[in-house]
Amino acid sequence: EVLPNTLLGVDQNGIIDFIISVEPPIENEIEFENLKSIVINNSSIKLSPNDIDIISIVDNVNSFFFPGFIDTHIHAPQFPNNGIFGNSTLLDWLETYTFPLESSFKDLEIAENIYTKVVNRTLMNGTTTASYYATIHTNATNLLADLCLKLGQRAFIGKVCMNQNSPDHYIETFDQCKESTLNVINHIKKMNPTGDLINPVLTPRFAGSCTDDLLKWLGELRKKGDYHCQTHLSENHKEIEWITNMFPQYKNYTDIYYQNNLLSSKTTLAHCIHLSDEEMNILKLTNSGVSHCPTSNSSITSGEAKIRWLLNNNINVSLGTDCSGGFTPSILEVAKHALLVSRHLVMKSSNDAEKLSSADVLYLATMGGAKVLNIDNNVGCFKRGMKFDCLQININSKNSNIDTFEFQNPNWSLNNGIDKFKDLIDKWLFNGDDRNIERVWVNGRCIINK
Ligand code: GUN
Ligand code: FE
Repeated sequence: EVLPNTLLGVDQNGIIDFIISVEPPIENEIEFENLKSIVINNSSIKLSPNDIDIISIVDNVNSFFFPGFIDTHIHAPQFPNNGIFGNSTLLDWLETYTFPLESSFKDLEIAENIYTKVVNRTLMNGTTTASYYATIHTNATNLLADLCLKLGQRAFIGKVCMNQNSPDHYIETFDQCKESTLNVINHIKKMNPTGDLINPVLTPRFAGSCTDDLLKWLGELRKKGDYHCQTHLSENHKEIEWITNMFPQYKNYTDIYYQNNLLSSKTTLAHCIHLSDEEMNILKLTNSGVSHCPTSNSSITSGEAKIRWLLNNNINVSLGTDCSGGFTPSILEVAKHALLVSRHLVMKSSNDAEKLSSADVLYLATMGGAKVLNIDNNVGCFKRGMKFDCLQININSKNSNIDTFEFQNPNWSLNNGIDKFKDLIDKWLFNGDDRNIERVWVNGRCIINK
């Protein structure tokens, strides 16, 4: 939905107070009480009173506002490995690249250095909400939560749980895991009691690294506290075989999480590439959400997730960078990859319906993420009463990679310019990057202003 000539007001709590249509040019001064900021699309308007933060966009062709991106699956400690995966696949990738790096987060100095970069880098790329995997370490995970709170990013913070099939230098006992999980939950609740910015998320790494009794304990804790939960599911053929053999008492991989009460409408399952109909039906039954990670799935050769099939079955789907299985911190780039991977499925099946459009992938990047994380009453799009999580995009920003000069399509004068706007959004999706993001707001607070 494109709203040209629109005036949007945000109150002091960061909540969208009004969205009204305005015909430029506006010359009168307009007064609004109790407003922290006013966002003006398409017009340069001077507003009072003094405490209003005025944002005006004069160049109505090249600038627009877009809902903040939501990354529903990202491993914060793996950032130094972005781009480094060679020809590995999941299980050897974990051993070779991932566990040694994550294990170094025992050192708080390393954690502080890298986590600060991660939060800044994802914000610069327009991620206003992230669901993070941290590591098994209590202090480093609490530090990640503190950084998100300080730097203003909406975040779900997961202390990773793993008490089996992990290297000696990077494993915990069941008791240590219980203690650190509760410690991190308490820390986050103490730091942000209203939960309006940061929240804990229970994070069994995947069934392969957790014993049955740990999964059961986490499931009971989830039910008792109505907590968010995140894990990996059905990523790689070898992984599926290994895990289903490890848990023969369950019907399938998904059933392990289901029987242990880990699935709910606040659960995010990363990958979900090779699900059977039976497993998909468990996701439907429990209203669990999927984090589609196409960059990672192609990089470590895991497979092509059938997103149209999931959407047609009313499963909530979102996007995840899955750094560093995926190499990019940008959800905009992941959205392009989601679109391309869907076309690879069509090349094999000849079923055009599997194609994802630009609108589809931008939906997954925003509203889809909000639904999966169960925060769609608050964020994901612009509506009265919702939180203002927003990106200001400029197609012609300094050093922009987008060339628009050759573009003059006669149809653009029709339909209130909306067709032109849709074409420009496609240009942004395919040729744009962090250079086109000029400002970022979370909860109405401007946290990036380049
Ligand atoms: N499965 C278990 N751990 C991981 C991880 O760190 N990344 C990915 N992509 N899959 C996993
Ligand atoms: Fe992952």
